[in-house]
Amino acid sequence: MLDVQKTANNEMADAAPHPQEARTIRREDYRPPAWFVPEVHLDFQLGAEQTVVKSRLDVRRSKSAKYQEPLILDGDDLLPVSVRVDGESWTDWTLVEGALHLPLTGASHIVEITVEIDPSTNTQLMGLYASGGMLCTQCEAQGFRRITFFPDRPDILSRYTVRMEGSKADYPVLLCNGDKTDAGDADGGRHWAEWVDPWPKPSYLFALVAGDLVANNDSFTTRSGKEVELNIWVRDGDLPRTGHAMKALKDSMRWDEQVYGREYDLQLFNIVAVSDFNMGAMENKGLNIFNSRYILADPEVATDADFDGIEGVVAHEYFHNWSGNRVTCRDWFQLSLKEGFTVFRDQSFSADMGSQALKRIEDVRILRAAQFPEDAGPLAHPIRPESYQEISNFYTATVYNKGAEVIRMMHSLMGADRFRKGTDLYFDRHDGEAATCEDFVVAMEDGGDADLRQFRSWYETPGTPKVSARLSHDPQSGTATLNLSQQVARTGEKPEPSQMVIPLRTALLDPDSGEHEGEELLVLDKPEQSFQFEGQTEHPILSINRGFSAPIIMESSQTPEELAFLSTHDDDPFARFEAMQQLMTNYLTARVTGTPADRDIVLQAVGAALSDESIDRAFLAELILLPSEAFLGDQMVVVDPEAIHEAREKLRGKIAVQFERKFRRLYAQCTPGEFSLSAEARANRKLRNVCLAYIAGSQADDAAALASDQFADADNMTAKQGALSVLSHMEDKDRGWAFDDFYNTYRDNALVLDKWFTLQSLSQRGDTVKRVKALAGHPDFTMSNPNRVRALYGSFTANPVRFHDASGEGYRLIADMVIHLDAQNPQTAARFIPPLGRWRRYERGRAELMRTALEKIAATPDLSKDVMEQVSKSLA
Ligand code: ARG
Ligand code: ZN
Repeated sequence: MLDVQKTANNEMADAAPHPQEARTIRREDYRPPAWFVPEVHLDFQLGAEQTVVKSRLDVRRSKSAKYQEPLILDGDDLLPVSVRVDGESWTDWTLVEGALHLPLTGASHIVEITVEIDPSTNTQLMGLYASGGMLCTQCEAQGFRRITFFPDRPDILSRYTVRMEGSKADYPVLLCNGDKTDAGDADGGRHWAEWVDPWPKPSYLFALVAGDLVANNDSFTTRSGKEVELNIWVRDGDLPRTGHAMKALKDSMRWDEQVYGREYDLQLFNIVAVSDFNMGAMENKGLNIFNSRYILADPEVATDADFDGIEGVVAHEYFHNWSGNRVTCRDWFQLSLKEGFTVFRDQSFSADMGSQALKRIEDVRILRAAQFPEDAGPLAHPIRPESYQEISNFYTATVYNKGAEVIRMMHSLMGADRFRKGTDLYFDRHDGEAATCEDFVVAMEDGGDADLRQFRSWYETPGTPKVSARLSHDPQSGTATLNLSQQVARTGEKPEPSQMVIPLRTALLDPDSGEHEGEELLVLDKPEQSFQFEGQTEHPILSINRGFSAPIIMESSQTPEELAFLSTHDDDPFARFEAMQQLMTNYLTARVTGTPADRDIVLQAVGAALSDESIDRAFLAELILLPSEAFLGDQMVVVDPEAIHEAREKLRGKIAVQFERKFRRLYAQCTPGEFSLSAEARANRKLRNVCLAYIAGSQADDAAALASDQFADADNMTAKQGALSVLSHMEDKDRGWAFDDFYNTYRDNALVLDKWFTLQSLSQRGDTVKRVKALAGHPDFTMSNPNRVRALYGSFTANPVRFHDASGEGYRLIADMVIHLDAQNPQTAARFIPPLGRWRRYERGRAELMRTALEKIAATPDLSKDVMEQVSKSLA
């Protein structure tokens, strides 16, 4: 690839600023563009080592621009081979920090630029790159500027016409956004295709794919009777694994019509699966590009969780066609406008396709595992950030998942009908525009007749609010009084913390029967508030934040008895799950800090759940699961991973021994029949794995044999992986053969091999760090595939007791890996900083070692902006 710094032909060509002084972009500095680009023509002469890109931009000066600003076209690692303006060769250009500056004087011009790029050396996987013999693109957020010079900002909407030409043998399939308008053969064994996308779009939604692909071809008829051709493009042998994704796509298309009134707007919808991808998937107009792990599945190679992931991500990207593409973002600070809303939409969809309760438990688990820690650490930011250095670092659980919670709260506050009126107005009013979060809120207010003035603080306040709840009862008057207060973390940017609007679904349960007279939506919008409930003859049991109606930390002084009561009686499944989690968490955190705590009541609650014949098996599996070690750590002021691990293992062992007979009986009852994706079959697989893990936790002599049998007999990946996970913590004589067998069976399937790496990285065995180091040298390990990197190293950072080994070996391993990976793929490298960045929360010895690892990274020359931003914020 060309090196702009060394070869730029002009003394104005500035070296990029040293990463240490990377520029901070601020939301308040937004200025509308000085130039627009209504029409774009692109011509690609494709080749893996050299692709020639010719662009023809129809540029128009903005009428509201006050000064004669030059035309500035962003570029990253590009050098113009030729520049023409209005048909004439043009030499009056400069390169400034990679961008092409053209001092144009007219109101409109035609600018033609030729560049040459080398996809084969593009290891960042941003822009045009090669993956498994095909060529594909990733442009969000700022990858288009690595393909051609362009005002690469989402408020520039253009109509694209694209001609692509390449070798017919290497790239028999040529795809782009929109509709194919023409195609033909060219000289030298080449062929070409022309694509026109009628919908104006920002450059980040541009996509192109050239490869040897086959399609699962299907169709969908929209509610107004338009027929849409659907294709899922994969490599030849993968075709049988595309059925689930295709079903998910058609279900999503129908759901968006029914629930949001949104119809698809082209004749063609293409999805392409690629193996090398930094993120999950990308919603390019009419041409979604996916990490293959979110497309390919059959029971032999995919777990039930994988099936769910596919359904959710296919839906997510499809839903972006409206929430993201038809209405896009004005600037990247508005990212949650499309991502938070679209995550809420895909969560609702998945809940409708499966179980509301299980989906909500899963969503909250993800929020607590990924977002709460982020919000409590050095990388905390509001869902609409105020500033960034590298926007790739803001594709976060906060922007996505907390963003979704904020939309969900609007839905709770307004009710489904008014919410829908609000979204209808939003889509109507802003169709074809680049909008802001504020535009969304105003549309919800206008269309849904809501007052969201104070609610807006959710967009600007980082940190997880804490709510405390105290319920008192006056038997004389039969009045129960609920005192609520909220605490919002003070932030540096604001003198006074804002008061949040916190919708809390609440019920008061009869202490004997567990019944209640209906749930109320209490809205806490002051620092302190009390609510009275009449007609309460006895002291009721408080069930609050049911369904997790607000993304907060609830501090209620409920006794173990009350929590145990809720865990058996609450009619809101989420609240029931939550009470059990809280009961277990309170016990375990007390044990870790050496405070006396009542274990029997925990055992009784688990026993009650296990004997409750009315509970759905999938829900039972959730209910009896212990809170994760990471979650327990988050509840403590000072985290000692070893002490947490020990306390949790001890309780697990006790539950296992106490209820061993029950677990064995349930295990037998959950024996799978013919494989099916029905809710019942999935519930059996889930509970069976949980039982197996408990039986192993009882240290029973036959645990290894039981897991081995499950592994050997399994006809599906959920059972295989469950067994292998149990074996992974055992001694080599028990686990070795199964890992070997798994490897030999699936060595040719990259996605399954990822699981093989993951399960070894997650092992609790004392030698796991050593094992991870050894696996890094395995012939199947490669740093150039992000899925493989995440399988080995990402899983390792999610293994609390081993990553946090007191020797610091785990920290050093990750630091060295980050330094190595950063030179190749900064975006993926930067994702490994947050686990180290939480160093302040750990006990002194570990905190020191984590900080040292971060400092080692920080001291590395030529760090990317991505890693530098995360490291410097973590050390600040
Ligand atoms: N918009 C995509 C999605 O959430 C994510 C793409 C982000 N890509 C990136 N390289 N930052 O569906
Ligand atoms: Zn998205």
